[in-house]
Amino acid sequence: MQEPRDLLCEYSSDPLGIDVEKPRFSWRLEHAERGRSQKAYRLIVASERSELDPESADLWDSGKVVSEKSVNIEYDGRPLESVEKYYWKVKWWDDKGRESAFSETATFLMGPMKSDDWEASWIGDPAERPGYSSLFRKEFELEKGVETAQVYVAGIGYHELRINGEKADDRVLDPGHTEYGKRVLYSTYEVADLLEEDSNVIGVLTGNGWYGKQELFFQMTIKLTDGTEKIITSEQPWMVASGPILQNSIYDGEVYDARLEKTGWDIPGYRDKVSDEVLRDEWTRAVHVEGPGGELESQKMEPIRVNEVVKPVDVSNPEDEVYVFDLGQNITGWAEISVDGERGREINLKYGEVVDDEGRVNQDNLRSARAKDTYILSGDETEKYEPRFTYHGFRYVEVEGLPEEPEKEDLLGKFVHSGMESASDFRTSNELINQIQENTVRGTRGNLHSIPTDCPQRNERLGWLGDNTIYAEEAIYNFDMVKFYTKWLKDIRDAQDEETGAVPDTAPYRWGRKPGDPGWGSCYVLLPWFLYLYYGDTRVLERHYEGMKRWVDYMKGRSKVNLLRYTYYGDWCPPEDSCLSADESPAEDSPGAHVGAGAYPKNTPGILVSTWWYYYSAMILSEIAKILGKTDDMHEYSELADEIEKAFNDEFLNEEEGIYAEGSQTSLVLPLFLQMVPKGLEEKVVGKLVENIREEHNGHLDTGIVGTKYLLPVLSEYGREELAYNLATQKSYPSWGYMIENGATTIWERWEYKTGGGMNSHNHPMLGSISEWFHKYLAGIRPDSSAPGFKRVRIEPSFVEDLDFVSDSVETPRGPVKSIWKKNSGSIHLKVSIPVNGEAEIKLHKTDFEEGISIVEEGETIWKKESLLNRREGIIDVSEKEECVILEIGSGEYSFRINEL
Ligand code: BGC
Repeated sequence: MQEPRDLLCEYSSDPLGIDVEKPRFSWRLEHAERGRSQKAYRLIVASERSELDPESADLWDSGKVVSEKSVNIEYDGRPLESVEKYYWKVKWWDDKGRESAFSETATFLMGPMKSDDWEASWIGDPAERPGYSSLFRKEFELEKGVETAQVYVAGIGYHELRINGEKADDRVLDPGHTEYGKRVLYSTYEVADLLEEDSNVIGVLTGNGWYGKQELFFQMTIKLTDGTEKIITSEQPWMVASGPILQNSIYDGEVYDARLEKTGWDIPGYRDKVSDEVLRDEWTRAVHVEGPGGELESQKMEPIRVNEVVKPVDVSNPEDEVYVFDLGQNITGWAEISVDGERGREINLKYGEVVDDEGRVNQDNLRSARAKDTYILSGDETEKYEPRFTYHGFRYVEVEGLPEEPEKEDLLGKFVHSGMESASDFRTSNELINQIQENTVRGTRGNLHSIPTDCPQRNERLGWLGDNTIYAEEAIYNFDMVKFYTKWLKDIRDAQDEETGAVPDTAPYRWGRKPGDPGWGSCYVLLPWFLYLYYGDTRVLERHYEGMKRWVDYMKGRSKVNLLRYTYYGDWCPPEDSCLSADESPAEDSPGAHVGAGAYPKNTPGILVSTWWYYYSAMILSEIAKILGKTDDMHEYSELADEIEKAFNDEFLNEEEGIYAEGSQTSLVLPLFLQMVPKGLEEKVVGKLVENIREEHNGHLDTGIVGTKYLLPVLSEYGREELAYNLATQKSYPSWGYMIENGATTIWERWEYKTGGGMNSHNHPMLGSISEWFHKYLAGIRPDSSAPGFKRVRIEPSFVEDLDFVSDSVETPRGPVKSIWKKNSGSIHLKVSIPVNGEAEIKLHKTDFEEGISIVEEGETIWKKESLLNRREGIIDVSEKEECVILEIGSGEYSFRINEL
């Protein structure tokens, strides 16, 4: 029996800065046999590594707990202390009662949790230097060697921590963006290795970031080898000066004058090297400031990092002394340039997603974002420059001011984003599908910047809720999103109106409507639900229950006879011909419709979409109330959902015609998706949808972001997977293939290729929701709300005609789930892998095999026509139900051959 592995505390391995009273623990299991689950576990926690033994564990010994739970076990021992490190391990018993040894030891470091754990205060630069980046400096002595040292720092907008001349770790653009007046994230660093017994210097560079000014809060706890403790904080005297960064702005870029570098400012001995005048004229005492006001919370999600270095594929010379580097892909981050030149020479880097006819970078679609970095040379040997406190969304970098013609290698693209692990590996035999998947993943990566943004390039980059209602599931299939979204949910709660419960369009709130559009605000109900469904997290449901409820109640307050009669965006951004132009007025029943951007749909009533979100949210809220044991609420919201459903059908359904409203694709898809269509009428409505796609749109979609998310799933659910596949692989306008034919390497905001001002982002993840369909329907890997977090997995692949194979592996809390299928002269080879302590239902549609099937595994027939012949290890049952053959399996790897009879 193998011991548990991959131990996680609050979803992280050996995390620093845990500031929750009852952290949760998870682990993964391995077993040589198939069909194995966990019968019991025992978990121990101690304050010293040497005490981590069942006899001596001083914090918690769970004892043998009979439970299948291996994900998110809540700590239940003696109270945990701030700023202490703890050690833990776990063992398990399998369902046959066999016992493993204890796992390896894992750790977690608590952060300051209570206000009196903080001795620091906020400081700032007394000089008015708008745009400049400040250098904060603290020098101190240590008389003894260092045993442990932790830094807790909130330097906002952004900060870079340096200790004795070295960057404390690889994070950039830290900390994450929040509603600073409500919450500020501090980052935790372990820095014992960087400190010296003797003189030490802490240097912190700050940038404006989203906060728009620079303030620092710093606390370091040091344990010395003689057992004494020392604490360094920003309450004590610090010095501050301006550095070489003269301008820094997220949208506009950075200006860096290397001649103004203060060499040695972040190492001991600086004071002796520079003159008294320099010290007097350039450095001042940092002053205490009020600070942003928000409570301090540990940043537990992945920090932003440079996650990849991208080499240019080409460099062109469209004009004298102008060079345009092409990275071959649209990334988010910045460029690093290497240059040799004389002191004072100015190099400009201008970023853009597209080039114009002359091959120059076209920044029109960035609107007012200047996206330009400037570097002024110091004249030293080869200088390398990359900005620190800005970022851009770009494929091309236009460089001006170089002393001579550059080599391609002189510039590197730095792909910068929150460092979430990838969560899947999806491939098929169709290159176009693979390319759409690749573009979606690339675009989504670049939009995960401590908040999930709409786009990374123009003057927005905001946490638009509606975009996430649409792309959250795609993001969850492709990345490990749980910590990131847990954090962003707090931003949503922080932005929620305290009085009315209304949720704004963006969180942290910067722009957009307040109250937000119903589809945007409903993200606040759907996102916690997705975290429950995909990660099995019930804590987010508990923590946000009141907030979600207040949002649904807000919509209720705005509804009339159960129809939600307000809208701003509806089925936002359908193909241009289906949008109202910027000067048209909205239909009478769409008060407030945001037509100005030319992206408001004209064929799908806004009220239909709003009411649908209202119904969806009420229904999910009732479901959540049930999970949390709130029975009264469960009934109340399920009755509300029934009433909304009835009103929706009364208002929009034309039974005779089998359509809703005017019969646009989205008007039909939405009620079909939530099974709101009266029994017996579904086929008629589906028929109309198919007719609309085939006849009115010549085999194309005509949906905005809302309809697009649900269109392909609905077609697949109603047995039209071939048509869904045709839409997915369509190359003519409007389609994902059309974007790719026109050079897209990410997903566009619009179905059209547009490069002018306005809403023409080339990196907007929302239409990438198709990737969710790839995982859920082509590979067929789906969660099951009856046993969330993929404890129970549903595997229901679509063996569409044109595909020869699909291969998918999705990381789930218990381990990877795999579904890999390949066609082979009349039979299908299906490999499935389910982690230990999980189970799956595999559903095979009989329509795929008209004459019935036999299923063989390793030469043994397990199913033929209607009978189960052989129950091999791990196979719980095979049966036939509603035109499907269903296999119930336990954990392990399976390799089935499905033969048509
Ligand atoms: C953003 C969106 C957002 C929309 C709502 C746009 O400017 O980029 O993606 O959802 O506004 O109006």
